[in-house]
Parts: sequence; C-alpha cells; structure tokens
Amino acid sequence: MSRPRFYITTAIAYPNGRPHMGHAYEAIATDVIARFKRLDDHDVRFLTGTDEHGLKIDQAARAANMAPKAYVDDMVAPFLELDHALGISFDRFIRTTDADHKALVQALWQRMAANDDLYLGRYEGWYSVRDEAYYDQSELVEATDASGAKLHLSPQGTPVEWTVEESWFFKLSAYQDRLLTLYDTQPEFIQPSSRFNEMRSFVAGGLSDLSVSRTSFSWGIPVPGDERHVMYVWLDALANYLTGAGGLDGEWWPADLHIVGKDVVRFHTVYWPAFLMSAGISLPKTVFGHGFLLNRGEKMSKSLGNVVDPAEMAIRFGVDRLRWFLCREVAFGEDGSYSDEAIVERTNADLANGIGNLAQRSLSMVAKNLGGVMPVRGDAGESEIRLKDAFLAGAEAYFAHMNALALHKALDSLMAMVAAANGYFAENAPWALAKTDTARMAEVLAATLDATRRIVMLAQPFMPESCARLLDQLGVAEDARDFKAFNTPVATGTELPAPAGVFPRITLDG
Ligand code: MSP
Repeated sequence: MSRPRFYITTAIAYPNGRPHMGHAYEAIATDVIARFKRLDDHDVRFLTGTDEHGLKIDQAARAANMAPKAYVDDMVAPFLELDHALGISFDRFIRTTDADHKALVQALWQRMAANDDLYLGRYEGWYSVRDEAYYDQSELVEATDASGAKLHLSPQGTPVEWTVEESWFFKLSAYQDRLLTLYDTQPEFIQPSSRFNEMRSFVAGGLSDLSVSRTSFSWGIPVPGDERHVMYVWLDALANYLTGAGGLDGEWWPADLHIVGKDVVRFHTVYWPAFLMSAGISLPKTVFGHGFLLNRGEKMSKSLGNVVDPAEMAIRFGVDRLRWFLCREVAFGEDGSYSDEAIVERTNADLANGIGNLAQRSLSMVAKNLGGVMPVRGDAGESEIRLKDAFLAGAEAYFAHMNALALHKALDSLMAMVAAANGYFAENAPWALAKTDTARMAEVLAATLDATRRIVMLAQPFMPESCARLLDQLGVAEDARDFKAFNTPVATGTELPAPAGVFPRITLDG
C-alpha cells in the first residue's frame, strides 16, 4: 500500500532584508510538522522559498542601487543559509523568479481570464508597499506622526499611499458566497479557530473586486496579452504553492497545510481560494495562521534595535535548543516571546535536567556496571506497570496533539513522559541496587533505557540532530527510528557505544 502524501509549505519571505527570528520560527515549526509526518509514514513534500517581485523589492533594490534581479540574487543567500543552519528539511526552495514559476503564473492568469473573472479598470485607493496590500478607506486607522500631523495607517500600522492607475481586476466580489460556504462546510480550512472567526466576518462584511495588476513599475511577471501590466505580487506569490506542487495540475496538489503568519492569513484564506476556484483548481486543505514572535514582549524592529540574527542564535545556543525552545515556549497559533534568559532556563530545565539527565544517568550505569551491553528486560512489576501506563497515555496525547498542530501541547505530553521516567528511575534507585541486587538493577536500567528511547523517538521532529546522537548511544538502528518502530525495544545484548552528554547545561555568558 502506498504511503499517504502530505504536502506542506511555509509562506515565502520577502528578501528585502536579512531573515529575522519570525522567519526562523515559521521555518522551524513547519519543519517540525514535516519531520513528524515523515516519521509517521507519510510521503512528504515540503516547500519554502522567497517572494521576489513587486514594489517593495523594487524599491529596496533601488535604494541599494542595484537592478532588482541582481539584488534578489544577493539577498536570497542568507535565507537559504538560515534554512541550512536550522536543519530545515525542505524539498524545494522556490524563488518566484524561477522560470517554471513565471510560466505557471501566466497559465493561472489565463485560466482565470477564461473563466471571465478578470476585467480592465482603474484602481483608485490606498496601497501599503510594506504589506503589498490594498486597503479600504474604512479599514485605515488614524495616527499622529512625530511632528503632530495626522496621518492614516493600515490596520497593520504600516504607511499607505493613495494610488491611481489602470489595473486589471479580479471579480473577488462574486466569490463571497462560495467562500462563506467553504468556511462553513470545511471549518478546518482556517486554523486556529480565532483566525477562522476573523476571516469569516471579514468576508461576511462584503468583498470588493481586487486589483491584480500594476503599471507604475515593471518588476513582476507580465500579464499575458497586456505587457504594460505586471501581476499583483500576491497573485504571483500565492501561486508558488502550485509551482511547488508540480504545476497547475501538479501531482502534489492540493496542499495539505499552508503554515503562515497571522498577518497574511487574509491573503491565504480569502484571495487564494477565490483564485483557485476561478481557475477550477482544488483548494488546499488547511491554512494555519501562527502567531508573532516577540523579543521580550516587544515587536522586533530596526528602530528598537532588538532584531537578532537567528543564525547567530542557533550557533550561540545550539540549533536544537533554539528549535525546542520556540516550539515549547510559544503556544502554536498564539504570539510568544523569547529572550536569552528564557532560552537558557527552559532548555536547562527540559533538556539538561530532563531528557539529557535521564539518558546520561542510565547509559553511564550500563557502561559502568553492565559492560555497555543492553540488559535483559524483567517481568513487569508494579512500578513498571505504572511507567507503562504513563507512557501509553503520554504517547497517545503526543500523537493527538501533533495531529492537531498543537506542538506545544505535544511537548507538554512528552515532558510528562520524561517526569514519569525520571520518577521511575529515582523510585527504583538502581545505583543502590548495584550493591544489593544486580539482576534487579539490570531490569530497572533496561526499562529506563527503553523509556528514554521512546522519549527521544518522539522528540526527533523537534531536535533532529541531538536525537540522532542519542539514538546512536541507545543502540537504536537507523532503520528503527520511525514511529512504526516505536514499540520495538532494542534487542538484549546489543552493544552500546560509550555514552557522552548531549545536552550540557548552558549559562547566559556561554
Ligand atoms: N512574502 C509574503 C508572504 C507570501 S506567501 C505566498 C510575506 N513575507 S514576509 O517576509 O514578510 O513574512 C514571511 C512569513 O514570516 C509570514 O508568514 C509572516 O507572517 C512571518 N513573520 C514575519 N514576522 C514575524 C514574526 N515576528 N513572528 C512570526 N512570524 C512572522 O509576508
């Protein structure tokens, strides 16, 4: 039987600056889900990349005195490097300047035109270059600038400019009913539910037609048959998911899961399904809008001087500590905060004292007292039964939470398993048994090693590199690391390599 397929994507980042922690967070969370699905016997395709056209990039290139293509060619490098530094297991890194993508977007346009959904008109209204978004007058918020003058900002707090130009329009207004039906019949389309309510009421409030081309600059994909126009960057960008699926009728389509930040949920749950309906293409199954990552509770911004380089953080703390921290500390779907102190505290508690300590203590006892050979498992006594029950419940909760995309709750369940295993170890005190009853000591160590193996197997999506090292030390064969092997203990008599600590304690000053 063929394995079920799973196609997952991140948003594609604007390469108009260096990647920041928000980009790292989204890439890590998506990677965790992709790795979980691979271990859970799915055939996974994972797409990420960069969004390289549009006015924002055009302006950034001008400011850097470069041609836009040369500019993005330079700017994409740190995004790719960051993905490598973070262990992001993507299958394709798409750039919207890739030739296959340009061809696809033009074909998509033609399908929408063939469905009679595009017409030529004139756009008069507000535009935010920073968001690459059109806003209705009614959505703007009033603010005062430094000199006390009144000005209008987008609901995201970004500057807007009055824009007047000839434009192609997409008949978005005609899709209101179909979108509402989509939300009502497939509520899992927008997750978590807080974002669902927001989007449903936005659409229920009525939709205007959407300007989908620009004439005042040329850095974009030309509109087929009307080359004075380049396509609106969001039409171009959203279509990356189809290009990454192998085309308009691509073998990986429909996507199972688009992971995006809360600020771009509207584009993904209103415009995107409407474009696809227009082109007669099936819809992605779920769009999950994660929250924003804040630096000590504050928005990251150049003017606050609190933008940190995520690649540097990965080097400083270790990539797996960073991955663990972000998934454990931030409730997935909600905003969350990071600080150096919190990373040190959290990873020392969970990894050094929790998982690392459990592995280190049991492995070093086996090395010292049992010649580094996997001991014989004993008959289950009362404390083994309790441990087993805790693990059954813990693993079941872990899988349920992972499948519901509650990554932080899955880690709560995993930490409950760690506590149960540490409790078992302390209660049975194998170090004391070493002097009184070595057969019982061996049983306790065997049970602890198996509990550790299970914990580490479930931690793999979050900390791939450290878990691989721990599984090596636990004598788990490379082909026995996916979830099918979860209930298969390491054979008695397996020789274990010399143990070495994987999660040493860290301090703030390194
Ligand atoms: N190019 C668009 C997305 C197009 S998808 C077809 C874009 N780019 S972005 O570079 O501004 O953002 C990329 C992703 O990072 C988005 O999902 C965005 O929500 C996310 N984040 C940007 N800042 C963030 C935080 N501070 N925290 C968490 N994620 C945030 O939007």
